[in-house]
Amino acid sequence: MVNVSFDALRTGEIYVPGLSSEYVAKKYGVPIGDIAKLASAENPHGASPKAKAAIEAAQGNLDIYPSWTAEHLREAIGERYGFKPENIVCGSGETEVISMVIRAFAAPDQPILMHDPCFPIYRIYTACEGRNAVFAPTGEDFDPMIDNYIELVKKGPRIAFVTNPNNPSGRFLNDEELRKIFDAAPKDTLLVLDEAYIHYTETDGSMHLLKEYDNLIVLRTFSKAFGLAGLRIGFAISANPDLISPLLRIKPTWNMGQLQIIGGAAGVFDTEHVDRAVKTVSEMRKYVTGEMGKMNRFRMVPGSRANFFLAEILDPDLDSTIVFNELLKRGVIVKDGTDIGVGNRYLRVDLNQKRHMDRYLNALREIETQK
Ligand SMILES: Cc1ncc(COP(=O)(O)O)c(C=O)c1O
Repeated sequence: MVNVSFDALRTGEIYVPGLSSEYVAKKYGVPIGDIAKLASAENPHGASPKAKAAIEAAQGNLDIYPSWTAEHLREAIGERYGFKPENIVCGSGETEVISMVIRAFAAPDQPILMHDPCFPIYRIYTACEGRNAVFAPTGEDFDPMIDNYIELVKKGPRIAFVTNPNNPSGRFLNDEELRKIFDAAPKDTLLVLDEAYIHYTETDGSMHLLKEYDNLIVLRTFSKAFGLAGLRIGFAISANPDLISPLLRIKPTWNMGQLQIIGGAAGVFDTEHVDRAVKTVSEMRKYVTGEMGKMNRFRMVPGSRANFFLAEILDPDLDSTIVFNELLKRGVIVKDGTDIGVGNRYLRVDLNQKRHMDRYLNALREIETQK
């Protein structure tokens, strides 16, 4: 048998995506338009209209190679956030940028720090690239326990991932807490601040810290508040171009197609669309918090500032897989905690339009009264 470079490439964890509406509609006979798709943290109002219009107008370029550095998109991102293109590298989703960062800044066997639980892709790529994941524990209701994290970062991992707000808990760290972590890290540790869900915290995020820390990279995605998960755009930004140039070298050369470049360059300025999503998510967070507060067998884990939250299953006769399947039968797609590293007492549920949240709440109420 042909060898692979690391065992995890044959036997390691594989990412479990949220199920598609088409699959659930077919399997459970629920009309596709009724399905509440609450497992992939997508935008409640779909794709950015500005990005869509730009892509429609650009169809003529499909026969031409794109700029291998996605120059036009990097210029647009730079203009939006006050940096130069040399401070930015783009990937086919943040996911690709994460894989580039791991390969570029940690050698095999070297330690990479992340919270447990975290976005599964950090630990999956760390294992597949033969690097060593170091997990910082979380506390009650997924408290990020930053003092613990700080002790681990002081040991000088090659890379330290901080997700703000966290996936899957949605817990948020303010600038003071972030500075405490960053100040404790050795100068040769690469700090990676993943702000995939930052818009939903209704803050501007912490890109301003880039000017203070020359070992810091911020990651952002177009998949969430811009509604462009299907287009695949993410980027890393740093005030220090020496952190960006290795990523430009290691990235698959033409990793961004013409439509990603054109769509992203227009979408990054679509603040109207972002604001609409943020408003819906914020209203639904309040609404679902109130409604779940009336339940006895389920509880919303408090503290999420993202467009999802963890639901805890209080009834010992139920577990996450039972509830996950009961929800599917009722046309509600969520994430089973066993697939995202939080165990069988939790589900991860997106905040989306009210009719979808009502479908989710009604399904839970039905399960509550069932014995
Ligand atoms: C914390 C975090 N970072 C990055 C991503 C990936 O985003 P993208 O769609 O840009 O690859 C996700 C997606 O679920 C995420 O939860």
